[in-house]
Amino acid sequence: MIEILYLLAAVTFIVGLRQLGGPRTARNGNRVAALGMLLALVITLVAEDIINWGTVVAGLAVGGVIGAWFALRVQMTSMPQMVAAFNGFGGAASALVAAVAVVEFGLADIAPETSITLLLSTVIGAVTFTGSFIAFGKLQGILPGRPLVFPGQRLVNGALAIGLVGVAIWAAISGEVAGYWVVAGIGLVVGVMAVIPIGGADMPVVISLLNSFSGLAAAAAGFAIESNALIIGGALVGAAGLILTVQMTEAMNRSLANVLFAGFGTEGGGAVGEMIDKPVNRATADDVAIALAYAESVMIVPGYGLAVAQAQHAVRKLADALEESGVEVHYAIHPVAGRMPGHMNVLLAEADVPYEQLLDLEQADPQFPETDVVLILGANDVVNPSARDDSSSPIYGMPILNVDHAARVIVVKRSLSPGFAGIDNPLFYDDKTLMYFTDAKAGIEEAHSALKTL
Ligand code: TAP
Repeated sequence: MIEILYLLAAVTFIVGLRQLGGPRTARNGNRVAALGMLLALVITLVAEDIINWGTVVAGLAVGGVIGAWFALRVQMTSMPQMVAAFNGFGGAASALVAAVAVVEFGLADIAPETSITLLLSTVIGAVTFTGSFIAFGKLQGILPGRPLVFPGQRLVNGALAIGLVGVAIWAAISGEVAGYWVVAGIGLVVGVMAVIPIGGADMPVVISLLNSFSGLAAAAAGFAIESNALIIGGALVGAAGLILTVQMTEAMNRSLANVLFAGFGTEGGGAVGEMIDKPVNRATADDVAIALAYAESVMIVPGYGLAVAQAQHAVRKLADALEESGVEVHYAIHPVAGRMPGHMNVLLAEADVPYEQLLDLEQADPQFPETDVVLILGANDVVNPSARDDSSSPIYGMPILNVDHAARVIVVKRSLSPGFAGIDNPLFYDDKTLMYFTDAKAGIEEAHSALKTL
């Protein structure tokens, strides 16, 4: 019966993950997988006689209150930090499961493959724990976001890696528990050393990779304590995290090695107002309202600035008004717009924007030549034509939304400052582009008011 319930839990993870693949079913997928996790936990703790019902209920109450408090309080733009913290705890939990097994049974009298999986779970869990909290600190502004590098860093990291493997092999062969603790300690240091040289803006990719690691640590712990649910759950998280990491790097046209070792996003990123002297076509709220009112089709391109400004509800209202007057409205969503996967989809879903209006890169691109007005709200890199036209550009080759193929482009942002990649955007100086320098939310609301007076 217990095995069947474990299997049921594993099935809910797979169904949940599948449902997370589409915006319509994602919420339900989250619930289904969470229920499966609850089931797996309760079976492990109660049916396997580890703790009694009272303790389980108390644990659920405390954990539930902490989780709900976090989920309700966290701003959408801080979601990557929250995921980082949760990943860190996931890694720590797997390492602790392994540590408990080592404390209880030692390393000497167990099968070599079990020692190896215990060591693996501990190392990956420890790296995930400290690495995730360094990522959290960088995103939260507690630690400097720039890459922290020092002379001989690679040498130190190389020595740590060699030491880690050496001591792990010694611990596995000799069965010395002291070796196990040294391995755990080096793992904690490696997590810190691996993440400090990476720039804060690349943290979402790092977090996705660490998420994958937390799954691998859990799967290794599952092998060590012979828990099928932990193996299946861990493997799913490991694979899903890795696929997401690869997709994010591909959408930025970067390799994983470049993200991890190149210290990207450190240069540029200038202050608000920088480069404002270059000639551009400045627009007012009235100009924007007129251009939108006389368009037959409008494509809205949201970016990171829309999230910062929390302009999702304002944009929905403006789109509704345009549609009421017969304008066709769509949204073009770039896969890495914003700072986390699905960032724009989540924001727009919050404002109940109909899913049918959301177009991904492949769907949107052929439509730009037939679009009258593209309204860019706080996006920059994802619409930068240099990625397509300038082979010397750092983002050359990154797929972009070809907004400059539309008849008119309106950009709403506060200044000419660059975005995440820290580079200028020729789109802003194009004859067909109108620059409306303002906060995205205030700008949309003002354009909406101006639209009403036409
Ligand atoms: P960015 O290129 O980062 O540009 C965002 C723009 O928003 C800035 O130029 C900024 O200009 C503007 N902005 C900031 N606050 C604003 C506000 N309150 N109102 C209006 N505008 C505001 O954004 P993007 O086009 O969405 O591109 C995303 C970038 O992040 C890509 O380079 C991508 O590779 C990178 N990245 C994405 C992810 C994921 S998974 N999404 C992960 C890691 C890295 P002003 O300061 O002038 O207003």
